[in-house]
Amino acid sequence: MKTKLRALKHFAKIFIIRLLNTFEIKMRRQLNCTTSEAGYEELLAALNPRFRSHLLSMYRVEPQLGTDGQPHPIDEDTKISAAQGMWLYKLCMSDRTKSTLEIGMAYGYSTIFFLAAIAKKQVGHHISIDPLQSSLWHGIGLTHAQELAPTKDSNSSFRLIEERSDRVAVDLARSNSTFDLIFIDGNHRFDDVLVDFYLYAPLTAINGHIVFDDMWMSSIQTVVAFIRANRSDFIEVYTNIPNICVFRKVSEDGRKWSHFKTFNVSCTSS
Ligand SMILES: C[S@@+](CC[C@H](N)C(=O)[O-])C[C@H]1O[C@@H](n2cnc3c(N)ncnc32)[C@H](O)[C@@H]1O
Repeated sequence: MKTKLRALKHFAKIFIIRLLNTFEIKMRRQLNCTTSEAGYEELLAALNPRFRSHLLSMYRVEPQLGTDGQPHPIDEDTKISAAQGMWLYKLCMSDRTKSTLEIGMAYGYSTIFFLAAIAKKQVGHHISIDPLQSSLWHGIGLTHAQELAPTKDSNSSFRLIEERSDRVAVDLARSNSTFDLIFIDGNHRFDDVLVDFYLYAPLTAINGHIVFDDMWMSSIQTVVAFIRANRSDFIEVYTNIPNICVFRKVSEDGRKWSHFKTFNVSCTSS
């Protein structure tokens, strides 16, 4: 009798997890798909029209120009939402956010929001890291950035580094670079995201922010659970924007060599 009950409990648990999982995936699709043209216009209203029109064209899933000068079809999944983008834009508009970096550029939705803030403030610099920008994305993100990035004394406020984020981090550390805002949206496997956090946390300025995209994924939820439990040098910042998680760096990492606190491993599969 006891064994039967245990088996029943086990199957009920699996069923509930699968149900939640399906629900999360559906929620994610809704996040990406339910905004109408008028909705986008309204959400992006605060942006300079040049930046807004590039974004609207992408949110309409129109073919985009690559670095070969040809239009290429784009998929409708690889993007951040307009609400997320506007949240990043507003954070970049604060006086203290001058130096920004994103891991993962693809078609360049997030890049355009970062560059829109730099153009509006007339100060700032943005780095995008993406090893596949030319080979997988036809240089579409780069084409947008080259057209939109403000220049000062013929220096661009934008730089693309076409390499893996882990390798770039070492070069940036050697050149003593620091950033006020780092957006992690590159390779979404658990270990890649944890390594991105580990390597880019020291490059984050005190009071600077690290933002994670795609909180619907177990891999990202698990990295975030690790940070919440183990990294008191970062405090979580509340946001009502779905699908992102934000941390502010409040000190340097001062943990003992043996520090470890257990954390929740998210059990929904992605
Ligand atoms: C979800 S897309 C980024 C979307 C982009 N932030 C936007 O808003 O349009 C993920 C990107 O990460 C890039 N990527 C994959 N592995 C990476 C790595 N090791 N380092 C940096 N970027 C990586 C992919 O080429 C892809 O362009």
